[in-house]
Amino acid sequence: MLRVGFVGWRGMVGSVLMQRMMQENDFSDIEPQFFTTSQTGGAAPNVGKDSPALKDARDIQALRQMDVIVSCQGGDYTSEIFPQLRNSGWSGHWIDAASTLRMEKDAVVILDPVNMHVIQDALAHGGNNWIGGNCTVSLMLMALNGLFKADLVEWATSMTYQAASGAGAQNMRELITQMGVIHASVADLLADPASAILEIDKTVAETICSDVLPQSHFGVPLAGSLIPWIDKDLGNGQSKEEWKGGVETNKILGRETNPIIIDGLCVRIGAMRCHSQALTLKLRKDVPLDEIEQMLAEANPWAKVIPNAREISMRELTPAAITGTLNTPVGRLRKLAMGGEYLSAFTVGDQLLWGAAEPLRRMLRILVQ
Ligand code: HSE
Repeated sequence: MLRVGFVGWRGMVGSVLMQRMMQENDFSDIEPQFFTTSQTGGAAPNVGKDSPALKDARDIQALRQMDVIVSCQGGDYTSEIFPQLRNSGWSGHWIDAASTLRMEKDAVVILDPVNMHVIQDALAHGGNNWIGGNCTVSLMLMALNGLFKADLVEWATSMTYQAASGAGAQNMRELITQMGVIHASVADLLADPASAILEIDKTVAETICSDVLPQSHFGVPLAGSLIPWIDKDLGNGQSKEEWKGGVETNKILGRETNPIIIDGLCVRIGAMRCHSQALTLKLRKDVPLDEIEQMLAEANPWAKVIPNAREISMRELTPAAITGTLNTPVGRLRKLAMGGEYLSAFTVGDQLLWGAAEPLRRMLRILVQ
């Protein structure tokens, strides 16, 4: 059995990974060893199987004993430990949720329902660095897999509606706290059916813009508002999140030398853990809509096509409907007024599942088999 070391299993992505691995009985096929940055010698978590006491996540000799290391500890840990580990001669498999190594030449960005051919090719050539993709990119590719498989996409723009979880656990807490503070500011007025809506609105607006609203994590209000910038400013008008859309899509698809143009605009909204995206796609040819729907539906079991009708879109194509599930539904499929080659689409996915933990879990399974 492979000895698998887990680092960062207590954080948000790590906890979702543990949940999924227990659901799928993954621990029965490995020898887990849990690492810690703060509680060396403590008891291992209960994952339905005994495992030794926690080891120090900075102990290179201990890490070297592992066949596989799965890290959800974050980019700083990867930057500090990964080079030391490889320089020590360790040739095990490194599976990582952090973005640090994504664009390295010898790293594969893993999303096996979409790029199993890239993963298998790398495995056959001794690849051992397996990095989870940006959540927005992975969710877009899961939903639109059928069109990319058929090489139908000439270019695409993605306008995103990204959830608080993408910014971190503290940001999720801050969003809910903001919502609570806003509600509290008008609770009395709301309880009175005769109160004036403009008075409620004025108080809400004042609260949103006041110091009362906690905003140390987002820096600005998110509840009752949105934030039209995610991640760093690259200085050319593009955010780093927007840049990732193009480079990571092409890296996942193994198309760095023949890239598909992908660009867009990334926006944070007040959803909890589901990212949504509105896409405009320019197809290489005018394929009938029913054929497009069939390609999308058949591409993988998670990309369910939602008919482009009001009721079902409102019910099934939302963060509220998808949160906590592996589904990556795609709907609002329609040929745009620009012509038969222009397709609109809307997709939603849980950014902690297919957007983070699930590709790591599945990569481990690929190595175990
Ligand atoms: N960068 C993403 C976000 C999450 O801020 O929503 C991680 O892929």
